[in-house]
Amino acid sequence: MGSSINTSKISLFLASIGVAVIVLSGCTSTSAPINGDFQDRGRQLFNAKCGTCHKMKAAASVGVQGPDLDAAFAGAREAGMTGTTIEGIVKAQVLYPRPSLDGYPGISMPADIVTGNDLDDVAAYIARYAGVPGAKPPTAPGEGPGAQVYANNGCGSCHVLAAAESAGVLGPNLDDVIPGMSPEQIREAIIDPNATKAPGYENAVMPDRFSTIPPDQLNQLIEFLMSSAAGGGKS
Ligand code: HEC
Ligand code: HEC
Repeated sequence: MGSSINTSKISLFLASIGVAVIVLSGCTSTSAPINGDFQDRGRQLFNAKCGTCHKMKAAASVGVQGPDLDAAFAGAREAGMTGTTIEGIVKAQVLYPRPSLDGYPGISMPADIVTGNDLDDVAAYIARYAGVPGAKPPTAPGEGPGAQVYANNGCGSCHVLAAAESAGVLGPNLDDVIPGMSPEQIREAIIDPNATKAPGYENAVMPDRFSTIPPDQLNQLIEFLMSSAAGGGKS
């Protein structure tokens, strides 16, 4: 860990996919259109699927099994590599991961972790932030580090929680249900959502990808939910 990826390695890699990138960008007059919320979707997907192995400041991710993506792209970006090119590199790596190099013995990146629109959003998100000087995660509304965990994982896209200023309606209102739950029940609801269904939501599905939230962050998240829903959230 800590070793940055040198620019020549990226250029070599680029050369091998350069043709595809040029053909792609030749299809449209502008660069690929980016849907409005790619940053939110991209960040959620990144945190769920990539941040477990990759550090990137804008996502506040801490994984160390793969290269630090800020370090990987900072030099290339400084040398003039465009976001579109970075997007192409990310997509190629996800679809056809290189076998692990010296720095990461024994761990290779699995192929096709994300595909289709999800891959577009993740790649656009990385292209926008990786290696950008001063990039940092958006400040999350709410008190304490758990507020950031809530925001990073996109809980608010499905749940109401006043303290986090979130208004999602696919899942239960957390201001209503959290005060009736123990920390253990909250933990289970997050990491194993299908074990017990919330009353009235028997047919609704909460994604089960949150079991990858690192334990310390999960504790912070639970603390945030308990303190904000029971206290500050409602008058
Ligand atoms: C299980 C761990 C793991 C996961 C999960 C993972 N990666 Fe990787 N990734 C790696 C490893 C290891 C490498 C280094 C391969 C090598 O040695 O070149 C890598 C390399 C990369 C690179 C190339 C960086 C460079 O130096 O040019 C990119 C880009 C990348 N990953 C993006 C992603 C994205 C996007 C996701 C999520 C969709 C993801 N990774 C998920 C382990 C992972
Ligand atoms: C894509 C939508 C979606 C996302 C994202 C999501 N949830 Fe949920 N959540 C649901 C649905 C639907 C239910 C109800 C079904 C169930 O209990 O599994 C639920 C149930 C819950 C419950 C149980 C409530 C009860 O009354 O038992 C808790 C707690 C919860 N979610 C917290 C979270 C947290 C924290 C996050 C972020 C890490 C999150 N959810 C992300 C949709 C989502």
